[in-house]
Amino acid sequence: MSAIDTTKIPNSLEEHWMPFTSNKDFKENPRLIVEAKGVYLKNHQGKTMIDASSGLFCNPLGHGRKEITNAVTKQLDQLDYVQPFQQGFGGSFELARRIAKHTPGNLNRIFYTICGSTAVETAIKIVIAYHKAKGQGQRFRFVGRERAYHGMNIGATSVGGMINNVKTFASVLMPGVVHMRHTHLPDHKFVKGQPTTGVEMAEDLERICINFGSENIAACIVEPVAGSTGTLVPPKGYLKRLREICDKHGIILIFDEVITGWGRMGSAFASQEFGVIPDVITMAKATTNGVVPMGAVAVKEEIYDAVMDASPKGAVELFHGYTYSGIPIAVAAALAVQDIFEKEDIFKKSKEMSPYFLDALFSLKDLEAVDNIRGYGMMGGIDMKLKEKPGRAGYECFKACYEAGVNFKATGDCLIIAPQFICEKKHIDEIIEKLRTGISNYAKK
Ligand SMILES: Cc1ncc(COP(=O)(O)O)c(C=O)c1O
Repeated sequence: MSAIDTTKIPNSLEEHWMPFTSNKDFKENPRLIVEAKGVYLKNHQGKTMIDASSGLFCNPLGHGRKEITNAVTKQLDQLDYVQPFQQGFGGSFELARRIAKHTPGNLNRIFYTICGSTAVETAIKIVIAYHKAKGQGQRFRFVGRERAYHGMNIGATSVGGMINNVKTFASVLMPGVVHMRHTHLPDHKFVKGQPTTGVEMAEDLERICINFGSENIAACIVEPVAGSTGTLVPPKGYLKRLREICDKHGIILIFDEVITGWGRMGSAFASQEFGVIPDVITMAKATTNGVVPMGAVAVKEEIYDAVMDASPKGAVELFHGYTYSGIPIAVAAALAVQDIFEKEDIFKKSKEMSPYFLDALFSLKDLEAVDNIRGYGMMGGIDMKLKEKPGRAGYECFKACYEAGVNFKATGDCLIIAPQFICEKKHIDEIIEKLRTGISNYAKK
């Protein structure tokens, strides 16, 4: 601890119970970030690191964007908060219009939430309200997928499929949820982009319809590319097939685009990238470039209309909402982000940098400790070979890479790499070089 600048360490680390963190280990050897600018972070030891995961996918435009800070400051000076029930302010309507310009098809009705988890929870409730409005109240089942991550409230945990997130809470999860198998097959090892095999995994949905009665199924929710579990890219034709099965049985298709939305795949949404239009899209990360919490749900006009039409004029149509839904500072930040998306043609930038990034990422294939690499757009996953028990290799490798000056998140034994869209080739090179050093140092230990 002697090398640490103690002026940056709080008096006590005990009171804060940290999320998704090995608290005991962290508190013995803390990693505190004190500054963020562009693609770089500085920690409390004065060490500069490159941000290889866009701060958990949140900051693709780089840290410390003045345009966003200024917009939030101005908004705070003028109107700091508006209660969002039965009243509003102009900005949220303007933002909904700007978001709807990018969403596919007629997913033009936007409901604000606070984060990705609340976006998923809201999507679940909207789907139920929609089916009730259409006289299909018996549809209560949701179909999720193994290895999915949809957030951490009860609904989102229930449709998720990562074992450690689910097993402790099994007794309180939502009833009626069924899971399809994940799409990662053994022959997808080191496949860059979409695998050409595995489209038949979509037939799991058809089997669930047969086994449970399609008339009971409300929705199928998938991440178009599973992000948190380490970039599981859908086999060619898989998403299209899910769409066909949903259409056949009147099931709502939800794309959870909390990670894949806003350019991560090279198009505004993965929906456009893979040419499949769902009925509902959830989004969150990158909406405000991580500056203020915000999520949103985009729904097809028919869904909104059905819920509106089911209630008499003057009645609240959907008994759902959050105190912090679409609050002024979140909207101000998101509008500034929309301006940057347009001015800097950000989605095109992401698409153009993707081949360079993926080639660089896959160059790590020769490292002995690496078991597998996947990637699409500006997102990739590196699986480390198992060490003693699941999760150990990922965590130890993350720490070695942190020491080598590259910061990202590891989930289980997978290193999640998602560079900012403002990265230049030299930044990608730096990320890969430092990953190589970090992984090699880890392997020597
Ligand atoms: C696909 C997906 N959905 C939902 C969430 C939950 O978002 P949040 O952590 O903002 O609640 C995440 C978070 O990583 C996610 O990746």
